[in-house]
Order: sequence, then C-alpha cells, then structure tokens
Amino acid sequence: MAVIFSGIQPSGELTLGNYLGALRNFVNLQDHNEAYYCIVNQHAITVPQDPKELFQRTRSLAALYLAAGLDPEKSILFVQSEVPEHVKLGWVMTTISYVGELERMTQYKDKSQKRGDSIPAGLLTYPPLMAADILLYGTELVPVGEDQRQHMELTRDLAQRFNRIYGETFVIPSIQLVEGGARVMSLQEPTKKMSKSDDNQNATIRLLDAPDVILKKLKRAQTDSDNRVYYDKDNKPGISNLMGIYRAITNDSYEHIEALYEGKGYGDFKKDVAELVISALEPIQQRYYELIEDRDQLDAILDEGAEKAHKKASAMYRKVEQAMGLCRN
Ligand code: TYM
Repeated sequence: MAVIFSGIQPSGELTLGNYLGALRNFVNLQDHNEAYYCIVNQHAITVPQDPKELFQRTRSLAALYLAAGLDPEKSILFVQSEVPEHVKLGWVMTTISYVGELERMTQYKDKSQKRGDSIPAGLLTYPPLMAADILLYGTELVPVGEDQRQHMELTRDLAQRFNRIYGETFVIPSIQLVEGGARVMSLQEPTKKMSKSDDNQNATIRLLDAPDVILKKLKRAQTDSDNRVYYDKDNKPGISNLMGIYRAITNDSYEHIEALYEGKGYGDFKKDVAELVISALEPIQQRYYELIEDRDQLDAILDEGAEKAHKKASAMYRKVEQAMGLCRN
C-alpha cells in the first residue's frame, strides 16, 4: 500500500495523451493504495482563463475522472482550490526555491515565450505549488506523463532541501510512468507532445471526440512516405507515435505490432489504431454524458473528497508551521 497523488489541470478538453499517460494509470493504482486525485484549478490560472469556462471544465474533469473509472469509494477526488493548504504550502515551497532553477524548467520556458513582456509570475512559481500538492499528503508515488519529469525532480529536490533546513518532514516521492503512453505526440507535428492547448484541432484526439472525428484525425495523422510499419522514433516519429498509442492500448510489443503489419500499408494500420482508440473511449464517453447531468452527485463527491483531503493536508501543514516557527506550538 502506497500513498499516490496526481493532478490534471482543467485548462482545456482532455486529450488521449492525458488519458494514456496519466488518467488510465490513476484507475489502475486506486486499488490497494491511498490515492488522491486532484483537479488542479489553481495551476490552470497561471495563464488567463475565462471564469465560467474554468468552472465548467472543473466539473467536466470531475465527471471524466469518474467516467474513466475512478471510484470515490476507493480514491479521494477533489478540487485544489477547496483545500487551502495547497497554496499555503505552495508559498512555503516558493520561499525555498531558487529563481534560477525555476527559470530552467522547460515548461516555464515554453509557456513564458508565448506571453511576450507580460509573463505572469505564477508561471514561474508553478512548480513549487505542484511540489506542495504532492508533499502535503506524504505521497510516495506520482503517476504522470514524461513531460512532468523535470517538475518531479524539482519536487524531490525541494522536499530534500526542506528536510535539510527544517528537519525531517516530507516523504521523498517517486515518479511513475507508463510504457507506451507516457509521451503521446501531436498527430500533426509528431516531435511535439500532444497538448490540450494546441490550436490545431487535427493535432489532438480529445477524450470526448466522436468516433468519426477520431477516425478522420488518425487518417490525417502525419506520417512519412515509407509506408512500412516499424518503430523508429527518430526517423519515423509519426508512425512510431501511432505505434505507441497502439501499444498503450493493447500492451503488444513493438515487434509484435511490426509482425502484424508486415506487408500492409499505413492506411490499414491507421484504421486499426482508430478502432482501438474508439473502443477504448466509447464506454468513458457514455458514462461521462450520464454523470455530467447529475450536478448534485458530482458536488457531493467533490465535497467529500475535499473534506478527506483537508484532514490529511492540514495535519501536514501544521507540522510545517511548527518546523518553521510559524505557529506558537
Ligand atoms: P497536465 O494537466 O498538463 O496533464 C495531466 C497529465 O497528463 C499527462 N500528459 C501526457 N501524457 C502523455 N502524453 C501526453 N501528450 C501528455 N500530455 C499530458 C501529464 O504528464 C500529466 O500527468 N503539472 C501537471 C499538473 C499537476 C500535477 C500536480 C501532477 C499539478 N500538480 C501534482 C501531478 C502531481 C500538469 O500540467 O498536468
């Protein structure tokens, strides 16, 4: 039994990358563990959000968590802003972070580049808040995609630094990656990761895309002209990405997939990948549309989750305040 924590930002419609890299793994880990799954809306506001949309996306993400198979009886589902210790410890983590190490984060570099001269400071202090999310619960394992590796390394550094300065307080968490799905790439620019915020609709498969849309996007996925299905990430990033998706869903090895498609072209392969994706997403979509209608049930689940999370988080934050001389005893 381990303590698990992970989060997803309600900053756009979830993609197949979020599902294969993270959400699906959340479901596998909820049995026999103490699992906390958060909707990190305070991370989402590090770039401008429309308030109404943010609120709706938060609810929608909660429904998707459930639709994907998270069970509130087994795991704790909650919204970050409903547990105030996240920002409290986030501030503490900011005070022990160095500007230089935060500026070196590739996600900061990418996101700040798009903001011209008006870079929100929250983009820079995003990783200490993420560290706080994780450290508040005594987390041992963090299921995330490969793109979060650098943030995870910083989280470990900050936890160790805090323990060194103020005494043993935090558990040092480890990253948990899945094979095949840990880095799903854009369908149009397969050297870039598939991202919620991509403007090119054809580049991403959304979890709620209809079957015909999924088929169309996969048929249009960028590939090379070689027309032979084999894995070569550097020279055939497009086809290798589709093989990664195939593998993440079926668990087949790349060799097995290559053998299956020997003598067949990309057309057949893309159609089969589409079928696999459609059948993986269909039951989730069905459940999602039922769940999103029941506002009261969603509210009740999130209220209960926040209450449980708060209990654990406040005890840890108390320890932090004591260690730092921020409270009387
Ligand atoms: P976010 O919201 O960008 O993504 C949520 C999860 O999906 C994974 N992911 C991918 N996996 C494979 N291929 C992709 N193309 C792909 N795109 C996204 C991400 O790795 C992530 O696991 N900083 C986090 C949110 C966060 C968090 C946390 C995560 C805040 N606090 C604490 C874990 C623990 C993020 O932006 O995820």
